[in-house]
Amino acid sequence: MHTDNEQSNSFTSPKYNENQWRTLPAKQQPKWKNQAQVNKVEDKIQRLPPLVFSGEIEALRDKIALAANGKAFLLQAGDCAEEFKNCTANEIKGTLKIILQMALIITYAGEKPVIKMGRIAGQYAKPRSSDFETINNQEFPSYRGDIINDIAATLEAREPDPQRMLDAYQYATATLNLLRAFSSGGFSSLSRIHLWNQEFLASSAQENQYKTMLEELSKALTFLDTIGISDKRERSLREIDFYTSHEALLLPYESALTRQDSVNHHWYNCSAHMLWIGERTRNLDGAHVAFMKSIRNPIGIKLSASASVDDTLALLEALNPDRETGRIVLIPRIGYDKVEAVLPSLIRAVAKEGYPVLWSCDPMHANTYVTKNGYKTRNFDYIAKELITSLHIHQAENSALGGLHCEMTGKNVTECVGGADSITEESLSAHYDTNCDPRLNARQSVELAFLLSQNLKAMKNS
Ligand code: PEP
Ligand code: CO
Repeated sequence: MHTDNEQSNSFTSPKYNENQWRTLPAKQQPKWKNQAQVNKVEDKIQRLPPLVFSGEIEALRDKIALAANGKAFLLQAGDCAEEFKNCTANEIKGTLKIILQMALIITYAGEKPVIKMGRIAGQYAKPRSSDFETINNQEFPSYRGDIINDIAATLEAREPDPQRMLDAYQYATATLNLLRAFSSGGFSSLSRIHLWNQEFLASSAQENQYKTMLEELSKALTFLDTIGISDKRERSLREIDFYTSHEALLLPYESALTRQDSVNHHWYNCSAHMLWIGERTRNLDGAHVAFMKSIRNPIGIKLSASASVDDTLALLEALNPDRETGRIVLIPRIGYDKVEAVLPSLIRAVAKEGYPVLWSCDPMHANTYVTKNGYKTRNFDYIAKELITSLHIHQAENSALGGLHCEMTGKNVTECVGGADSITEESLSAHYDTNCDPRLNARQSVELAFLLSQNLKAMKNS
């Protein structure tokens, strides 16, 4: 870790040892051949500028606190695994465009601001269920994401290469640079986003309700314009705050980008605004939890159906002992068929113990299956079911669903079955493009946001 100010060198964090993680077992790390090279790359990255600024992270904490109190909604979306070769203007624009469309739809129905966040500009490392995979009867080390190795099926390509951490830093920088330009340069203007929406769902079953929503939005914008509030004059109508996030998996990279603020002396992971701990690395005695304890960023915690109430409460105590609102986002990924059995007791226990959290929902990761043709896919109906069931469970428990976490792309891929396009298992091969998990395509993403918005509206009116 690195201090960005001479004066603060002598300051040590009052609570945590920021290098404690190095003394603990770390799951899901590559088996580097040459540790000296890894250290060298870490040193190099430590000297490079941070990607995000502590003030932005603090602002995000405040917004997440609002969402935890039911006054905002967190939309966190993007690739399962970003690929270096897809770091192009079109790809980034496509993803941002769909996230903004989804956000507008949810804002409109929920009557709350939506915090817009990508799984982007750093989502390069993947946890794997096995260290090895068999391709054409030959065993290879698993692909662990572009920040670690290459997906090509050769032993050379699969060798973990520390230089890739430096490449990841450069790709993340380029991605973030364009996102910042799009956020403030007119691209994200409200009147434009609203027009993009018309491209979607023209043939879907919800066509009429969708059109009605767009017409109402149009009227609202025209009214604002009439009284002199237009995006030409109002910054808030033409600029957005866009936040980045990824799984904090590859600890040397995360640590090298963790910096101490010279004014408030807190440590911030400046590789992204928000980081999350994955289902496979959230063990209390492991390096990942220790690392997360040392930083002040908002932290997401993935919770599968096997997360017990005790595990969850222990993680909350470890990561948020001062019970600060805005620090923790709980992200259950339980499965459409188990959510009713598992989620209520988690909600009750967290409320009873008084931990302030923002409850999100990842309806993707427990609804994955492999087709008989060998494609890893997810069914849109099950994704929608887990999301909407979670929404209603929260309502019944006197709690609130305050976030959606999903894997999507702005491209028209065929990776998840179902949705308005009725993608079938047989048509998955047409545009199956993911290196990792299947993503919602552009239309399926908008459709999911629309379904959520319809349910939010119905709940309001009930
Ligand atoms: C992910 O979000 O890409 C992921 C691997 O999730 P989980 O840790 O919930 O399996
Ligand atoms: Co995934």
